[in-house]
Amino acid sequence: MVKEVKLVVNINDMPIRGLPGTYARVYGVTSDIAVKCYLREDLGCPYPSVEGNLMWEYKIGTHLLENGVQVPEMYGIRQLELPGIDKMVWCLFMQRIDPVRFRNLNHDLQSDWIRQYEEQIKLATDLGYDVIDTNSPAKNTLFDPSVPRLYLIDFVRWRNPNITLDADNHQNH
Ligand SMILES: Nc1ncnc2c1ncn2[C@@H]1O[C@H](COP(=O)(O)OP(=O)(O)OP(=O)(O)O)[C@@H](O)[C@H]1O
Ligand SMILES: [Mg+2]
Repeated sequence: MVKEVKLVVNINDMPIRGLPGTYARVYGVTSDIAVKCYLREDLGCPYPSVEGNLMWEYKIGTHLLENGVQVPEMYGIRQLELPGIDKMVWCLFMQRIDPVRFRNLNHDLQSDWIRQYEEQIKLATDLGYDVIDTNSPAKNTLFDPSVPRLYLIDFVRWRNPNITLDADNHQNH
């Protein structure tokens, strides 16, 4: 259940560098925590509200984690005061990954990236997910070479016939 808690954090480096998101904004809160938020409700989101979309992403992310799929740890959803925005914004708090670009890796790590990508997509598909927006190893994945580990991100549009958002929260379109 989403609680309306006023939480003010010091956003120390915003937004996170990397490929700019199409719809969402992602900010680094600390070196370990990132937040994802939508500043508009109408941009390709499958649910009619910002909280609904974030709850869906949180629910899927948690389910994937419980089933051993490599995604950032999901911490929860809270409202946050963001610099320069005059209203509280719903944010999904998650583990912040420190990724590298594919082209900056050596051949062995590139191969590892592709291998992990194929493995994680298969795991998610076997769990019943219709995996959307991740049609190449470099799309909506983050790779931390220090582990080395690939993380799938951005599953707001994923679907799974076995998983629904609670009826008292948000209806699908
Ligand atoms: N946990 C994270 N750690 C570090 N960077 C992240 C994390 N999550 C997202 N990012 C960065 O933010 C970018 C945008 O995130 P994401 O792909 O989830 O949103 P989007 O594509 O804008 O939104 P939408 O969910 O509407 O498709 C990513 O490409 C990546 O650079
Ligand atoms: Mg994305």
